[in-house]
Amino acid sequence: MRIVVIPGDGIGPEIVAATERVLAAADRRFGLGLAFERQEAGFAALERAGSTFPRAVLERCRAADGVVLGPVSHAQYPPRAEGGLNPSAELRIGLDLYANVRPSRSRAGIPCSSRTPMDLVIVRENTEGFYADRNMHAGPGEFMPTPDVALAVRKVTSRGSRRVARVALALAAKRRGKLTIVHKRNVLRLSDAFFVAEVEAVAREFPGVAVDDQLVDSMAALLVRDPERFDVVVTTNMFGDILSDEAAELAGGLGLAASVNAGDDHCMAQAQHGSAPDIAGRDVANPTSLVLSAAMLLDWLATRHARPELDRAARAIEDATERLLANAATRTRDLGGALGTAAFAAALEERISRDSASPT
Ligand code: NAD
Ligand code: IPM
Ligand code: MN
Repeated sequence: MRIVVIPGDGIGPEIVAATERVLAAADRRFGLGLAFERQEAGFAALERAGSTFPRAVLERCRAADGVVLGPVSHAQYPPRAEGGLNPSAELRIGLDLYANVRPSRSRAGIPCSSRTPMDLVIVRENTEGFYADRNMHAGPGEFMPTPDVALAVRKVTSRGSRRVARVALALAAKRRGKLTIVHKRNVLRLSDAFFVAEVEAVAREFPGVAVDDQLVDSMAALLVRDPERFDVVVTTNMFGDILSDEAAELAGGLGLAASVNAGDDHCMAQAQHGSAPDIAGRDVANPTSLVLSAAMLLDWLATRHARPELDRAARAIEDATERLLANAATRTRDLGGALGTAAFAAALEERISRDSASPT
């Protein structure tokens, strides 16, 4: 199993190092046969190779079994013509990672803004929608026909909607059997009505899943008022981007926010948050987001390759993480604890190596 590991920018190198350490511990304990290959993207790559995402890196990721991508300071990159490519976008499009799966759940004892317990997964379409920097075959979907007019084109396709729907429905069938489609079809009468209809068409293949829908603005309010009512949520790219940050923050903070970008042939672990330049280099970032993303990648690999030991390793990583988070003394600073990034990773490593809770 070859895993490409990309440190990224800001807190990226710190949380990626922590995640690599945890994966290596799981590899030793469960005999996964992981081989890590480091690649550079972001400012380090710009300096060395003139691009924040050199073409060769995409090829290495395509040849690998999985990717772990640290957050990148994309907003601070120079224009594309000067080498400023967004690694997230290049990988999501380049590896056709069409479903961004973003769980958020509250945990007993961890302070959270949600008044009630919550446990939901937002499945975000990841290759089209309002992402004008990447949603066209050639040229950007954003342009200015005259100096005083700016236009952005949003793309919704049958294929894009149906394939993300299938991921969301399959997930709902394994969880509490409920899917909520989020849209703005009262305004986007063609494109969002189309998205909802395409998802509903696929839903007919999943009679065990109860499907409802919600306008995106009321969804933003309901997430605060009553997040308990949601199980799996499926939505277009930008609504999913925004709502997943909201859900993560309600559930305890972005430091806990894991995700994978998954396609039919590739999968990439990536935290939901950005490069957090405000806390970079201080050993205070919470690596849980990326560690749990890596566990989700192991889950995806376990299913794809029918290798149960990968699944056991994922459970062991989750278990170790939950045990540390359950104790106020072994949390990171964002959660009011005292552990730095490296100390938290060391504690995880120690637990994974020692625990014999799940027999190998
Ligand atoms: P951000 O998500 O980086 O940070 C928002 C807030 O959350 C900050 O206060 C930060 O300190 C905190 N935070 C985030 N992750 C944390 C962690 N693991 N532990 C503790 N605290 C954490 O958002 P931003 O500041 O708007 O963006 C910074 C840069 O990241 C920008 O260049 C943006 O374009 C980029 N970005 C990248 C990704 C990605 O790589 N997937 C996602 C979002 C933003
Ligand atoms: C995310 C981010 C990125 C996205 C940005 C940095 C382009 O917000 O991964 O959630 O939306 O693609
Ligand atoms: Mn985002």
